[in-house]
Formats: sequence, structure tokens, C-alpha cells
Amino acid sequence: MADDKLTLPMVQSWRWPRRFIQQQRRLLRTHAFRLAALYFLVFALSMLGVLLFVYWSSAGFVERQTEATLDAEITGLAEQYAQRGLSGLVQIVAARSAGDPGDRMLYLITDPDGRPLAGNIAGWPLGVPAHSGWLSFNFVSKSNGRTVTRPARASLIIIPGGYRLLVGRDISDAAAFRDRVKMTLMWAGLVALGVGLLGGATMSRNLLRPVELVNRTSERVMAGNLSDRVPLDGTSDEFDLLATNLNRMLDQIERLMAAMREVTDDVAHDLKTPLSRLRARLELALIGPSDERAQREAIRAAIDEADRLLATFNALLRIAEAEAGSASERSELVDLAEVARAAAEFYEPVAEERGFRLSVATEPGVEIRGDRHLLSQALANLLDNALKYAEGGELEVQVSRAAERAVLEVADRGPGIPEPDREAVFDRFVRLERSRSTPGNGLGLSLVRAVARRHQGTVSLADNQPGLRVRLEFPAPTP
Ligand SMILES: Nc1ncnc2c1ncn2[C@@H]1O[C@H](COP(=O)(O)OP(=O)(O)OP(=O)(O)O)[C@@H](O)[C@H]1O
Ligand SMILES: [Mg+2]
Repeated sequence: MADDKLTLPMVQSWRWPRRFIQQQRRLLRTHAFRLAALYFLVFALSMLGVLLFVYWSSAGFVERQTEATLDAEITGLAEQYAQRGLSGLVQIVAARSAGDPGDRMLYLITDPDGRPLAGNIAGWPLGVPAHSGWLSFNFVSKSNGRTVTRPARASLIIIPGGYRLLVGRDISDAAAFRDRVKMTLMWAGLVALGVGLLGGATMSRNLLRPVELVNRTSERVMAGNLSDRVPLDGTSDEFDLLATNLNRMLDQIERLMAAMREVTDDVAHDLKTPLSRLRARLELALIGPSDERAQREAIRAAIDEADRLLATFNALLRIAEAEAGSASERSELVDLAEVARAAAEFYEPVAEERGFRLSVATEPGVEIRGDRHLLSQALANLLDNALKYAEGGELEVQVSRAAERAVLEVADRGPGIPEPDREAVFDRFVRLERSRSTPGNGLGLSLVRAVARRHQGTVSLADNQPGLRVRLEFPAPTP
């Protein structure tokens, strides 16, 4: 019992960092993180450049100023030495050392052993080598009765004879200034880097969030939840646009899946009857009357049934092909008037024989971009219907243009299709009750609709008073 109490928090605290590390590893692999890291690197480098420049031009400036002052002073002293020799130089150094301490100038002149001859520094500074050039050292000074060590910058000149002249300046103010600049820049740099890091993290998180949404949705869709959609944030930025397009794609897929399921159901259902009939006829041939003529008759009937089944399959395949193909393949400029005349010519003899007056009225130059063969087939199906369901009378085929659209119409004087059935007859295997006695599969108008859709067109049924008027409309081709 006591053991459990001990181990439980240990396991949790061990698990938590592992999950955290996994999350961080995943973050490291993301494009957004790499982008943010690059941004941060560029930001940090330019920050460093700016800080260095500020340091150089402020603290460095004071140092350069000091050295320039010292240079000028040395030049002055060198002139004096040239004119008045060593003793003159010692006098001047003594005079200047006694001058205003506010200018913080330091002087020292010593003999070759380093013993001071004149100057305002107590003795030769400890640990400073005796060769000419720039020096930095600390010296001890008394102020208000206290001794303090102060930093100094100086130039040492060895005078002929081994005498040393040290001209320098107390740089404690400059050093304090430099320290302050350093401190300020360090803090400014730290704050800027912090802000940069925060900015990079926010940027990558903002970039990742919409991508993560898309990922999660697609995972749910793949898991079978086809009606799931990527949530939109309404900003209409590029991610919103991407999400909208993905959602549209999913809509389309869902619609196609539903349509496909419906078609397979229909096909299975409607082919069951003719197959059962075929089976019954074959059975009859097998067990029926044994005289050869009756048997041959039964087999012939079975073959007819099989042919009808094949025709149905062919029609289904043609519809599937028309529905599946994209408008661009096998597409050419098709003159609808030409298609109408060819079809009318083909049906003319049958129409005449059955008492129809077939007429073709066409406007010239009504062209669409599409598949000539499919368009002919659609028109053939419409003429076939008219010849099948109307009993003679006018049969008109018209090609015209209306509001930039190409129109192909077939109108007969038969019984027509009642308003409530005008949508359903386009579905596969749908036939009106009164047409049961005529042969057919209920697939003709399905093909017509598939062909219309393949050409971005529409098909509609209207009352021809009396009769049926089928109207196909296609968009005119873009030049
Ligand atoms: N011109 C028409 N006049 C009256 N009814 C029609 C006309 N055309 C079609 N129909 C009705 O619409 C139904 C569907 O027509 P569709 O062309 O799709 O199939 P079908 O002619 O029965 O068979 P298939 O065309 O496959 O041989 C027909 O069964 C018929 O009832
Ligand atoms: Mg038909």
C-alpha cells in the first residue's frame, strides 16, 4: 500500500516529460517551426550587428577621443623637449601636474631606473613594462583623504638617455560609461531576443493551427466520417480558401458516393427480374416438352432474353462512360444542326412508315464543344422515345440559339409525361406505368441526362400541348 503511494507520482512525472519531448520533436519537424527558426536566426544576427555598432560608436568613441587628446598633448611636450631639453621638459611636466586636476590628465617623468622626477602620479605604476606605446593600468589616487584605485590610459615615450615620459588620463568616467553602455545593450539584446523568440513561436503556432485543423478533419474523414468538414474561420485568407476547396471536394466525393450506391442498388434490383426469367426459360427447355421444335423455341426465347440483358448492360456502360468522362477528352467543335440532320435522315423511313411527319428546323452555326458520338446517341434516344410513345403526328427537331446558349429540342404529339413524373423518368430503370407494354429498359433518358451533364448542359421536359417537348441546353463554346 505504501509502495503504491510512492510509485504513482513517480510514474506520472516520468510520463509527462516524455509526452512533452515527443510533442517538441514533432514541432521540430514542422515546416512552420523551421520557418520561425530561420526568422529568429536572421533577427538575432541583425540584432547582434546593431548592438555591436551602437557599442562601437558610443563607448569606442569616448576611447578614441581620449587617445586623440593624449596624442595632441604628447606632440606639444615633444616640441618643448626639442626646444628646451630634458630640464625644460621636467619643468613643464611639473607645472602641468600642479594644474587643474579637473582635466584628469596624468603626467610622470622618471629617470632610467623609474625614479620620478616630476608628475602627479606617486611612482611608476606596478607591473607596467617600460617600452614606448599605449598602456592601460591602474593607479592609486587620493581623494577626500581616501585612497582609491582608478583606471588610466596612457602613452609612454622613452626619451634619449633612457628617461621615460608617461602622459595619460584618468578614464574612470569613460570606463563607467562603457560599463553602462554594455549593460544597457545586453539588456536590450536580451529583451529583443525574448520578443523575437515569442514572435517566432506565435508565428509558427498561428501557421500550424489551420494546418492542424485540416489534418484532423482528413483523419476523421479517412476513418469513415465522410460528412465531416474543415471548420472555417471566415477570414477568407489562403487557409480559409484551402479549407473551402477541401470541403467542396468532400461534398463532391460524398455526392458521387451516394449516387454510386444508388446506381448499384438499382442495377442489382432491376437485373434480377430478367435473370430470373432467363433461368426460367432455360429450365423450361430442360424439363419441358421433349419435342425438338418446342425445345428450340424455348432456347431461342432464352437467347432473346440474354440479348436484352446484354443490351441493358451496354446501355448502363454507355451511361457510366458518359458520366465518368471529362468534357475535355474527345472534344471537338460540333455543329448541332449537322447532328440533327443526320439523326433525322436515319429515322426518316421508320417515322414515315409509322405515320409521323418528321421536320428539322435549324439555325446555322449553332456549335458546341463536345463529343459528337455521344450527342448523336442522346438525340437518337429522344427520337426513339417519340416514335415509341407517340402515335404519329408532328415530330419536330429544332436547333437554335437562346441567350448565348445552344438549344436542341425534340417535340412530339404523343401522350407526354405528366408534370410529377418529369424528374423521375431521368433515373435509371424508371418507366411510366402505361409504357409497360412497350419494350425498353428505362435507360434512354438517363443517357440523355448524362450526355447533357457531360457537356455542362441541362435537359428539361415540357408540355408540347399535346405531347412531350424535350429541351437540351448547352453553353456556347468559349473562343
Ligand atoms: N416522348 C415520350 N412521350 C411519352 N412518354 C415518354 C416519352 N419519352 C419517354 N417517356 C416515358 O419515360 C420513360 C423513360 O424513358 P426512357 O427513354 O428513359 O426509357 P424507355 O424508353 O422506357 O427505355 P429505353 O429508352 O431504355 O429503351 C418511358 O418509359 C416512358 O414512360
Ligand atoms: Mg427510351
